[in-house]
Amino acid sequence: MKKLFSLTLIVALLAVFAPVISAAPPAQGQEYIVTAGDWLSKIADKYLGNPQAWPAVMSATNTKTLEDESFAKITNADVIEPGWKLWIPSTEEAEDFLAAYDPSKPEMLYATGAGGQLVVGSWWTAGGEAEGLNGMFRIYREKYPDVEIVNATVAGGAGTNFKAVLKTRLIGGDPPDTFQLHAGLEVEGYSPEQYLEPIDDIYASEGLEEVFPADLLTLLKAYGGHYWGVPVNIHRSNVLWYNKALFEEKGLTPPTSFDEFQTVAEALRAEGITPFVLGTKDGWEAGHIFEDVLAGTLGAEKYSGLWTGDTPWTDPGVTQALENFKMMLSYANPDHPAQTWDSAGEFLIAGTGGMMIMGDWTDGWFTSKGFTGYGWAPPPGTQGIFVALSDSFAMPKNAPNEENARNWLKVCGSLEGQEAFNPQKGSICARTDCDPALFNEYLQSAMVDWSQDAIVASVAHGAAAYESWATDYKDVLTLFVASGDVAAAQAGLQQACVDAGICQ
Ligand code: GAL
Repeated sequence: MKKLFSLTLIVALLAVFAPVISAAPPAQGQEYIVTAGDWLSKIADKYLGNPQAWPAVMSATNTKTLEDESFAKITNADVIEPGWKLWIPSTEEAEDFLAAYDPSKPEMLYATGAGGQLVVGSWWTAGGEAEGLNGMFRIYREKYPDVEIVNATVAGGAGTNFKAVLKTRLIGGDPPDTFQLHAGLEVEGYSPEQYLEPIDDIYASEGLEEVFPADLLTLLKAYGGHYWGVPVNIHRSNVLWYNKALFEEKGLTPPTSFDEFQTVAEALRAEGITPFVLGTKDGWEAGHIFEDVLAGTLGAEKYSGLWTGDTPWTDPGVTQALENFKMMLSYANPDHPAQTWDSAGEFLIAGTGGMMIMGDWTDGWFTSKGFTGYGWAPPPGTQGIFVALSDSFAMPKNAPNEENARNWLKVCGSLEGQEAFNPQKGSICARTDCDPALFNEYLQSAMVDWSQDAIVASVAHGAAAYESWATDYKDVLTLFVASGDVAAAQAGLQQACVDAGICQ
């Protein structure tokens, strides 16, 4: 009884004194050296009494490091290393910071250099694409060392999440300085007259019309006759990636027709290998694969006609394309709704999956993973067809750091910027004068194909149609993947074309 009493007393006393012992909130800021097992919110909890106060610690540390490099620079809130010196602001400073903090504005977590900031919005977080972007940052930093670059990425392939964040920022009058934009009609979705700066003058001052191919220039000017973005690359949507060792071991060659696809898929399945791997988690991937199936079933001209009204969506070729896609899906990994484009690629690397259709950012991703055992071929029916897209960077009206943004766009269009970016990104340069020797074998083959294939525009990546139509199209495909209902999907695709004002 006595023992129990004293135990209760000790617990009660501890409860009263514990906050005082472990975490006196500092009246003034203080240094802190990271030890093993620390993370930012744990430190914020311990010293500021609030785990949610970690942004205040990150911002304060990044501000300190500008004056005193012995402080760490935190670029990823989830990564702090033992031995790093941080600055913990006073409780009052932290409260003031948090009252103003807007989580959709990562620039608030960074210092402002003598030359201001450059806030770059994109969705490049996966392997390859992140490295490519860093390559361009490096070139920019060499030229403008006083500018603090803020990498305002929002994860989610094809801009699934980034685009919504960007729209809110544009409408709220709170834009980043520059942001990723697909060349082509996608720009319409951002109401360019209202929110974007036409950048024709940068094309003139940098001589950009002389260094980009004519077709790309036409695409870049497709909306409103102005240039809205500087292209950094050309990507190919239609690539069939396969595990080379598996194919060699089983005596298989990449399929050139849908019948061959089925034969190869059956052979892989018989060996216990998932024939066709994909992820559909982000809602755009099925639309991506299907554009390649449409091109492979209809041919280049009829495929392009779908987006201009020259090929009706009621065409029997569209029915056939849906049947082809349905057949391919019957060989897919059942967990595809839980996978993204890159996580699905892991099956291919592991050799538990045989084939995958995805854009050539996959080349950059494989390379970033140190995986070299991949082969490539045009997906069935698309020999001689290059389904193309291009990433560009645009500038909003009232960019907070306009001069920095203009200089960024110049780096994007420059030879050194493109040569630093593309070999890692897994794309070929938008410029025509990059040195092919800097690129790997796949990318060199893509350069050759780009110069001789029939070029058609990707819809899943903003080139062929307005964003609203592309979204309706992708939504129909997402439903189709779940239902397999060919007639309903074709009716849905036709309706999307009607709603876009292209079909009757
Ligand atoms: C595309 C983009 C590529 C790549 C891919 C996966 O829309 O153009 O650069 O990032 O998404 O996220």
